Amino acid sequence: MADYDVIIIGGGPGGYVCAIRCAQLGLKTAVVEGRETLGGTCLNVGCIPSKALLHASHMLHEAEHNFAAMGLKGKSPSVDWKQMLAYKQDTIDQNTGGVAFLLKKNKVDHIQGWGKITAKGEVTVGDEKHTAKNIVIATGSEPSTLKGVDVDEKVVVTSTGALELNKVPKTMAVIGAGVIGLELGSVYARLGTEVTVIEYLDHITPGMDKDTGKTFQRTLKKQGLTFILNAAVQSVEASKTKAKLTYEDRKKGGEHTLDADVVLVATGRRPFTDNLGFTDLGGEMTDRGQVKTDDHWKTNIDGIYAIGDVIEGPMLAHKAEDEGMAVAEVLAGNHGHVNYGVIPGVIYTTPEVASVGKTEEQLKDEGIAYKAGKFSFKGNGRAKAVHQSDGFVKILADAETDRILGCHLIGPAAGDMIHEICVAMEFGASAQDIALTCHAHPTFSEAVREAALACGDGAIHA
Ligand code: NAI
Repeated sequence: MADYDVIIIGGGPGGYVCAIRCAQLGLKTAVVEGRETLGGTCLNVGCIPSKALLHASHMLHEAEHNFAAMGLKGKSPSVDWKQMLAYKQDTIDQNTGGVAFLLKKNKVDHIQGWGKITAKGEVTVGDEKHTAKNIVIATGSEPSTLKGVDVDEKVVVTSTGALELNKVPKTMAVIGAGVIGLELGSVYARLGTEVTVIEYLDHITPGMDKDTGKTFQRTLKKQGLTFILNAAVQSVEASKTKAKLTYEDRKKGGEHTLDADVVLVATGRRPFTDNLGFTDLGGEMTDRGQVKTDDHWKTNIDGIYAIGDVIEGPMLAHKAEDEGMAVAEVLAGNHGHVNYGVIPGVIYTTPEVASVGKTEEQLKDEGIAYKAGKFSFKGNGRAKAVHQSDGFVKILADAETDRILGCHLIGPAAGDMIHEICVAMEFGASAQDIALTCHAHPTFSEAVREAALACGDGAIHA
């Protein structure tokens, strides 16, 4: 008899959500987690702490730039960095503690230590062996660094070190204009750091709808971020307090250098499978170092499944959570399903950027005839009242059937508003379905309805 029905390796959003659902479905479940606290990268050194710093720095930005115009006068607050980090840590503690409580409540065993799959159905943690009918690999990802760049997490940092700097630097060079670079770059720019973002491509945020990306870059420039595009970083030389970065201009040629107090390397993440034992047992990986699975998250070894950042697909906490719930259903003998066509993506800057479904570029490439209904927040009363009228909502709908194919939002609360479109897409709704739905006034969400109206006979407030 095995000790457990399921052992999940990794207690991040994929692993712990999978564990809770397994337990709810009656399976005897354990989670193995190497960190002292649960919640993985997301809760400990990713999504959650960065949101705390984004919030605090946004408050400062509002006080410095927008309060006076609203009749709020007085000295702007100054930054107590130690306290800001303490606030961030408190946010982490509350969230990781919450996950520990949830596992306990659902009678999931939490085994602390790094787990290794030592045989089919066997996970070794330290000196202890635990057996299970099924194993789920949910080991996530880690920052990937560049050749010629040594990370010390003090002067040359990944997202992990950037959340723990000992002071707010005067200058920062960010390598990579992806989600991490722009969120953390925004934090420090608001705190007074001179931030320069160096990006290999000729545009920021690869994969984002281009029109939205251009507006996003313009807005960030207005907030003080400097962009150097078409630039391939070659190397970073660091001392104890400074770094010199060398990059090649991919358009005009030639090497250039840039000095900075801190260099943030934000060039992507790679699946984390160190010491997992999976390949020793004959486990198959993809060319990109991901654990290979079939459509139901099963690896080539019977009884071993994998979910989240360690497998193919976008590295997003909510994608991992969905896979965690779906694989739990499969293990309980039910049907598990994830609709990969409707996974939203959000960047938590100000304004927020959110998207779901196809971009205009993808629809063109695929030869799909579509119409675009666009509405600017300049026509939204609520956005004007709170001085957040930069940005727009763009709905892309099938030219013939009006079915919603995608949506791209840049503006206030974009990360929350996108879910109206996600639900609509799950139900196969048309733009007209949204246009005919009463939206409360005055809300930011009215802009979504207006964009839907713009797919038909026209928006009212355009
Ligand atoms: P990313 O893949 O989003 O962006 C990396 C950028 O670095 C790309 O634009 C790439 O062209 C550039 N780059 C690569 N090599 C370079 C070089 N030598 N010189 C200059 N530029 C170079 O990766 P990022 O931002 O590190 O994020 C990693 C993962 O974490 C992503 O999958 C992201 O979706 C996820 N994430 C999601 C968040 C969210 O949903 N809000 C927040 C943070 C991370």
